[in-house]
Amino acid sequence: MFKINERITWVGKIDWELKKFHGEEYSTNRGSSYNSYLIQDEKTALIDTVWQPFGKEFVDNLKKTVDLKKIDYVIANHAEVDHSGGLPELLKIIPDVPVYCTSNGIKSLKGHYHRDWNFVTVKTGDTLDLGKGKLIFIEAPMLHWPDSMFEYYTEDKILFSNDAFGQHYASEFMYNDLVDQAELWQEALKYYANILTPFSPLVTKKINEVIGFNVPVDMICPAHGVIWRNNPLQIATQYLTWADDYQEHQVTILYDTMWNATKKMAEAIAAGVISNDPTLSVKLFNVSKSDHNDVITEVFKSKLVIAGSSTINRGILSDMASLIETMKGLRFKNKKAAGFGSYGWSGESPKLMTQKLKDCGFDVMEEGLGVLWNPDDEALKACRSFGVKLAKKLSPSI
Ligand code: FEO
Repeated sequence: MFKINERITWVGKIDWELKKFHGEEYSTNRGSSYNSYLIQDEKTALIDTVWQPFGKEFVDNLKKTVDLKKIDYVIANHAEVDHSGGLPELLKIIPDVPVYCTSNGIKSLKGHYHRDWNFVTVKTGDTLDLGKGKLIFIEAPMLHWPDSMFEYYTEDKILFSNDAFGQHYASEFMYNDLVDQAELWQEALKYYANILTPFSPLVTKKINEVIGFNVPVDMICPAHGVIWRNNPLQIATQYLTWADDYQEHQVTILYDTMWNATKKMAEAIAAGVISNDPTLSVKLFNVSKSDHNDVITEVFKSKLVIAGSSTINRGILSDMASLIETMKGLRFKNKKAAGFGSYGWSGESPKLMTQKLKDCGFDVMEEGLGVLWNPDDEALKACRSFGVKLAKKLSPSI
């Protein structure tokens, strides 16, 4: 618990030991937090709760801050269980309290908990008067689920943004100006790249809509990680940049390898790329030994993705297949790509990699490069030439 100001108290949970989120899909190497906010104006409103395993602890702690019977309204910005998981415990005690959410929020909450709570549907522009200030609701579909919504609290000029602008980042400091900036921005970027990339056009539209309301924003309070109180709109501006098919001058080379032949190809291709343009940031990842969410973050930053696998059972290696599935779902835009791979017998992987990169929506620049067996000097020369050729297409003026 900590006071944000005289009216608003953070009543969430910092989850220091969380290492995986969304099942095993998202690595949370720096933990996370589930932010819940209690507004004690003339009326009392609770915004979001915490993940289900912490539901009882949440309610026990909340009781120390407020008489639960004095909570007039519960706002459920998003039904995913990391925010709604405290509702069953809480609503056992105050079953009649109105629960404000979008119409999709009702569907999702009912789907998760099979309870018929006292739901109140809200739409963009609807308001809830708390006394000194009011909450103005803003639907935010696909940021990042169809049920997501924000609200703006007029008295303190705070935007409660739920998942948007969040980070999976546990910190005792809880404000953007107090934490390590490199860690904060790395986690904010990883969060955007891995969760919000497919919805970038909607991110742009929603942020411009909120900016268009022309209201002052003194703080952005997301549902994960730190609160943006120092120049809070910097994260909204950064989201607009990331949503605009963001790229750095970077090439990422991904490989999965059985006996290191494909690894040798990857390193030779990298040498070719670097030789053409030493200003390029070139990063290599053995995807079977790398955190896939960190790899996705690097892919997000890249202009060109070169990806290779050995051939196995007429297919590609499983860790590469898994990463390809993730990249396909994230629907990256405006990225170039090429495939490669080594083989001993049937040799499908270069062609398969080329097709799979096309399926991911990448602009494939060259047919995939294949090498039979362990690459010899001639094969390594061909790999370097492949890298040079790709890099020249990327930076034709160099
Ligand atoms: Fe933080 Fe979409 O849940």
